This record gives sequence, C-alpha cells and structure tokens, in this order.
Amino acid sequence: MDKIIIHGGRPLAGTVAISGAKNAALPLMAATLLTPGWHTLRNVPDLRDTRTMLRVLETLGATWERQGATVRIDTSGLTGAEAPYDLVKTMRASVLVLGPLLGRCGYARVSLPGGCAIGARPINYHLRGFENLGVTTTLARGYVEARADTRLRGATIYFDKPSVTGTENILMAAVTAHGTTVIKNAAREPEVGNLVDMLVAMGAEIKGKDSDRLTIHGVRSLVPAEAAIIPDRIETGTYLIAVGAAGGEVTITGCNPAHLPALTEKLRSAGVRIDEGMDSFTVSCPVHDAASGCHLQSVDITTLPYPGFPTDLQAQFMALMILGSGVSIIHETIFENRFMHVAELQRMGADITIDGSSAIVRGIPAERLCGAPLMATDLRASASLVIAGLAASGETEISRIYHLERGYEQMVEKLRRLGADIRRVKE
Ligand code: EPZ
Repeated sequence: MDKIIIHGGRPLAGTVAISGAKNAALPLMAATLLTPGWHTLRNVPDLRDTRTMLRVLETLGATWERQGATVRIDTSGLTGAEAPYDLVKTMRASVLVLGPLLGRCGYARVSLPGGCAIGARPINYHLRGFENLGVTTTLARGYVEARADTRLRGATIYFDKPSVTGTENILMAAVTAHGTTVIKNAAREPEVGNLVDMLVAMGAEIKGKDSDRLTIHGVRSLVPAEAAIIPDRIETGTYLIAVGAAGGEVTITGCNPAHLPALTEKLRSAGVRIDEGMDSFTVSCPVHDAASGCHLQSVDITTLPYPGFPTDLQAQFMALMILGSGVSIIHETIFENRFMHVAELQRMGADITIDGSSAIVRGIPAERLCGAPLMATDLRASASLVIAGLAASGETEISRIYHLERGYEQMVEKLRRLGADIRRVKE
C-alpha cells in the first residue's frame, strides 16, 4: 500500500482544474443498464470507485472504453443481473444497479453493502420504494433478491430521510414503470439533477428536477444516453478549504460555484476571501504563522441535506477550524460515526472534544499543529488529514491512501502543481 508524505507550512498558489463528480458518475454509469446500446458519458473522473463501477457493469455483461474523460458503455449484451459481494463490499454505491436492472428486466440480485466506516448505512428506503413499485424483495445469505413478475407499476413513495442513492435508485426503476410515480421528500443534491437530465435525454418523462418532489410518467422505451458529468462540488470544496488552511491564493476552474452555497458562506464568515466566477473560484487567505498571527474566525457548522452544509465536507472543514481564533461546534446530523478523523487530528496537536454527534474544536496557534504519522480511515477523513498536513509544521505521513483515491482524481499531482511539498511513496 502507498502512503503520502507532506512537508507542511507552504502556501498554495496557481490554478487547479476540477474533475467530474464521483457521486454523479456512479449513478449515471449505472443508468446505462436501463436500455441496450452504446451510451456516452463525458467528464467521467478516473477514480478507484468509477473503476469499480465499470467492473460491476462488466460482471453484468456490459463492455466499455475510455478515451480521456469520455467513457462509452455498451449494455446490449447483458448476461446477468447479479452484483457480487466482493465488488459491493468495496463500494456500497454498487447498489445503484438495482433500480436500472429492475427497470430493464424486472430482476436483480445484489449483495447487501453492509456497513462502512461512517455508519450502518442501511438501504431499507430503497427496498421499500421498490416494493411500492410492485417488486418483491427477499434477503438471503447477505444478498437482496428483487423480482417483479410483471412490468413495474407507478406509485407514490415517501422517503423518511431524503436519501441520495435511494432517490436515484427509485428514479431509475420508475422511468419505465406503468403509470405515474411520485417521490416525496426526494434528495435535491445536484448529482440527482444530473441523473434526471440524463434520463430525460434517454426519453424519460420527469418533472420537479432539483426539488423535493419528483414526478415520473413511465414510458415504454428509452434510447442510449449522451450525458456530461457535472463538476465535483466536494472536490471543489476540499480545495477551497485547503487554501484557507495552508494560506495563499488559488484559482479553481471547471467548477460550479452555485453548488456550494453553504460552504462559501461559512468560509467567508471564517475570514477566507472567495470571489466567484461563472465556472471558477478565486480563493485566498493569509498564511497563519507566528509572524502574521491567526486570521481564521471559528464558526459553527451543522451538516444537512442539500442545500445545507454537506456532510462530505465536514471532516475537511474541521481541519480548518483547528486553526480558528476561538471555539467551533461541528454538528454531524447525517451519519452516526463520521468523526473517525478526530483521533488522527488530535495526534497532530488539534484540540477537539467529541460530545455525541458534535465535535468541539478549540483553535490553536499554527505553530502548535505538528506533522505526524497518520492513518486514513475513510474517503473524506483522508482529505481532512491532507489539509491538516498542508497547514502543519514538519512532516506528515498518511498511510492507507487507497481511501483517498476512491474519490479524488490526482490529488497529489494537483497539490504539487499548487506548490505543496507532497509526494506519494511505496509503503
Ligand atoms: C450519498 O450516500 C453519497 N454517496 C455520500 O457520499 C453522501 O455522504 C450521502 O449521500 C449524503 O449526502 C453517493 O452518492 C455515492 P443517503 P447515500 O442515503 O445515498 C440514511 C462520499 O464521501 N438512510 O443520502 O448512501 C443513511 O443512513 C459519500 O462521497 C437510511 O436510513 O446516503 C443516512 O443517515 C459518503 N436508509 C441518511 O439516510 C436508507 O435506505 C442519508 O443517507 C438510505 C439512507
């Protein structure tokens, strides 16, 4: 396994281009199962998770080719409808094949994803929604088997919580159902809107994009898709926060500032300067050191479904608040165990106390944040450790970086081009 070595304390400068969104690429790749033919997806990031999704599609009989950021997928020759445990356990988003397989052939057998580092993450909302559409689901030996003996039928489905992949799975199952499906309390994340656009381009009839109520009128057939993946708002937010922590001035291109309303407000309140363009940010912050002192105000955040503060940026923002001028309360409301990064940050000198679903972060002077050997535990925690390493004095070593490479395309290379002293080495 490889690890990352960072020598911190250097400001960032230059330009960084944002890749396509992991959490849009995964559902859109799954949606190609809905109808046979060659589908074309542009701006697909090359990540561990997108490579895993391609392997899942191959397992089902699809073929694919990648030319740069464009991926073409042929799902004409489906030979199976089973996503095996060894793939699903490495990427829970594999459950996104359930909806399109049910829409295409009325059957699917997918390993239950099991828990993950950040929480139990059940899929009961997905299964209940399928049952509302006329699907019978049975659980046996760690697999869910979903079957519909006739064409799926439209229904009204209410989500207790606005589940992102739950909304996406039901959308994909409903587009060819008989009749009308209404999803109430649907997730409003931009990645769901990206999927709606792709399904409409395939011939689906969907109203309510970006709202919490989606209405789908089932159609008899669909055509292969031509779609572009939206920019990754979580990658964008990660680089915005990194400049706040390390100091410097960076232009972030190929992004969508409108997708980060909560983060930009919180960063501005903390004292980070952010200018927005149509598809770019310019972000700057003074270096926090003994000479120039601390420029960051401590601000509180509460994670919420979109458009609230994203849970996927909570760990990164916590790394920034380590250097705040006072006390920051970070309240995580989406997942029950998303503070795995705290213990690692504490080893660098951070003053953080966990109280139930909140973390209390007491700001320390930059010179007390020291590099250390760290271990990544999950995708966004890994990004948090990188950000802290960029701001800390001395050497930070992060092991198990396969977590990071699930969701960040060429992060080490992108940061090096911004002047960071960061490299990956064989462990
Ligand atoms: C998606 O996960 C994202 N993954 C996650 O990003 C993200 O953190 C999450 O949405 C929240 O924004 C992808 O899009 C591939 P949920 P998802 O269903 O869909 C509970 C990353 O780092 N719930 O919206 O699995 C659940 O436990 C990843 O890129 C049920 O109880 O999340 C959680 O508390 C991490 N039953 C809440 O709802 C269900 O059937 C929201 O989960 C489904 C969800």
